[in-house]
This record gives sequence, structure tokens and C-alpha cells, in this order.
Amino acid sequence: MLNQVVVDAINAQINAELSASYSYLAMSAYCERINFTGCARWFRIQSDEEHVHAMKLFDFLLARGAAVQLTAIGGPRNDFGSVLEVFETAYAQEQRVTAQINQLYEVAFGAKAFDTVVQMQWFVNEQVEEEKTMREVVARMAMIKDDPASMLDMDRELGARTPEAGGAEEGA
Ligand SMILES: [Fe+2]
Ligand SMILES: [Fe+2]
Repeated sequence: MLNQVVVDAINAQINAELSASYSYLAMSAYCERINFTGCARWFRIQSDEEHVHAMKLFDFLLARGAAVQLTAIGGPRNDFGSVLEVFETAYAQEQRVTAQINQLYEVAFGAKAFDTVVQMQWFVNEQVEEEKTMREVVARMAMIKDDPASMLDMDRELGARTPEAGGAEEGA
């Protein structure tokens, strides 16, 4: 039986993952609108992955016989000044999510909820990857932002992203 403090923290994280999904969807729409269709595709896949993260926690609560409590998701930011600003915002968002994941890990550990600790280990590793990816895109875009040809090359490269096959099941 999961302790209520842990259940509340997991429910809060489900909301955070769904908020991230919603926010990446808005970023995808913005990128498409300014004709960065590769970035738009990249963010749409990113949005789907955040949804998978939420469902991982959703299924975990249900598997442990705990109550899922879905709460309101705030409206995401829909407007940006450039595609670079979109990635900078996404990077900052991932850093905030890392802090939330670490806090949830601490709550689970403190409550000796070792089943949750094991689940959260997947998320801790995932955040290392997420931050690395975002940091690299931001750094490369900042370098080439004034060169349209290079920006279009990068848009094409990001547009080659494919949904993670089996990524959803990994660690679930
Ligand atoms: Fe996530
Ligand atoms: Fe993420």
C-alpha cells in the first residue's frame, strides 16, 4: 500500500508530465507556423513522449491499487520570438522537471516506498538524456542562428526524428 504523501506526489508528477506534453504541442504548432516543419515534427514526438511518461505513472498508481487524481492543466505558452527561443524555453522546462523528479524521488525514498523509488530511477535517467538533448540543440542553434542555410539544415536534421520504438515499454 502506497503512503498518501507518495500518491499525492505521483499524481502531481502526472500533471507535470501532461503539462509538458501540452506545452510541447504548443511549441510544435508555433514551429509549423513559422515553417520550421522539422522542428514541428520533433516537438510533436516530444509531446507524445511526455504523454507516455504520464501514462507510466498513471499505470503504476493503478498497479499499486492507488487512486489516480487528474487535475487541471494550465494553458501553455503559444508564442515565441524564434525557434531558438522555443528550444531555450523547452530546455528550461526540462530543468524544472528534473527538479520535480528529484523531489519525488526524495519523497519516495523518505517514505521507504521502494517500489516508487525503482520507478523513479527510470525518470532520473530519462531526465539526464532530456537535458543533454535540449542543451545540445540550444548550443548548436545559438551558434548558427544568423545563418538561414544552416538553420534549415538543422531543421531537416531534427525532422528526421522518429518515435522511440519500444521506448514506452522500457522500464514499465
Ligand atoms: Fe517527461
Ligand atoms: Fe521531458
